[in-house]
Amino acid sequence: MHPVSLDSFTQKYKTLVEERLKEVVGALETPENLAKAMLYSLQAGGKRIRPLLVFAVMDAFGKDPQDGLDAAAAIEMVHTYSLIHDDLPSMDDDDLRRGKPTNHKVFGEATAILAGDALLTLSFNMLADIPENAAPATVKLALIKGLSAAAGAPGMVGGQVADMEGENKELTLEQLEYIHINKTGKLLEYSIIAGAEIAGATKEQKEVMSKFAYHIGLAFQIRDDILDLEGTEEMIGKPVGSDTANEKSTYPALLGLAGAKEALDYHLRSAKDSLAKSGLEVGILDQITDLIGLRNH
Ligand code: IPE
Ligand code: IPE
Ligand code: MG
Ligand code: MG
Ligand code: MG
Repeated sequence: MHPVSLDSFTQKYKTLVEERLKEVVGALETPENLAKAMLYSLQAGGKRIRPLLVFAVMDAFGKDPQDGLDAAAAIEMVHTYSLIHDDLPSMDDDDLRRGKPTNHKVFGEATAILAGDALLTLSFNMLADIPENAAPATVKLALIKGLSAAAGAPGMVGGQVADMEGENKELTLEQLEYIHINKTGKLLEYSIIAGAEIAGATKEQKEVMSKFAYHIGLAFQIRDDILDLEGTEEMIGKPVGSDTANEKSTYPALLGLAGAKEALDYHLRSAKDSLAKSGLEVGILDQITDLIGLRNH
């Protein structure tokens, strides 16, 4: 039973995950201002591409995407925390995110840092609380372990550090790839693998999905780098030229705009090839891959 279009799929599951995020944060016993700061960034918008990947993978395996709801919400919390911290004055020092003033501009730096911390820790709590009928304990444990690695030192945080250390330097393509795979790719990969895990994928199926995820992760950040140059603030909801101002190593900085676009095409094609070989019902996933290549926000 497959929804007819990506639009209806997106609308349905975006709404579900947004309602769940609001519900979970709303139920916390915590100072009002902290809950407000957490909700401010969660509700500022965002494409929800990571939750959609969880749902689309489950759909590809013929499972009910709704069983991935809490994992999807947990991933969006980790992603949102990473954005709050990424924008801080000590990091990218940006004032606009998802079309709104950044968290620290509204709530102050200390509360923004703590709102990020609270979202990160809450995500693990959510995974631990997934109902047994959606995921048994062994699956939940794998999900918790996977998220801690994807988000932490061997993943996103490690990539963010390498990204900072790469400022004002000309990196090799290999070093730049390390940054992109980790700061952005690992959480996207995790979203895909989490969906596969909950759907009960075999080891071989997870390997195919990992390959797909590797290319999606790189494509996504290459597109992000291109939009930092070619986008408008109105389109992307964040400042343009932030990478240039911070002298970041990016694909366009290293390969030129045309070279970056070629790399993007290569990774999109490779991602689609992996999907085509998976033997799964990949209609929605394939459309999300196209969207990542074409996205203008
Ligand atoms: C932005 O992520 C940060 C990167 C990892 C490139 P998204 O482009 O998914 O941002 P939102 O969630 O839609 O705001
Ligand atoms: C951010 O990369 C990756 C994260 C882990 C947040 P960027 O610094 O390029 O993301 P944007 O462009 O600010 O969204
Ligand atoms: Mg950054
Ligand atoms: Mg940034
Ligand atoms: Mg960027």
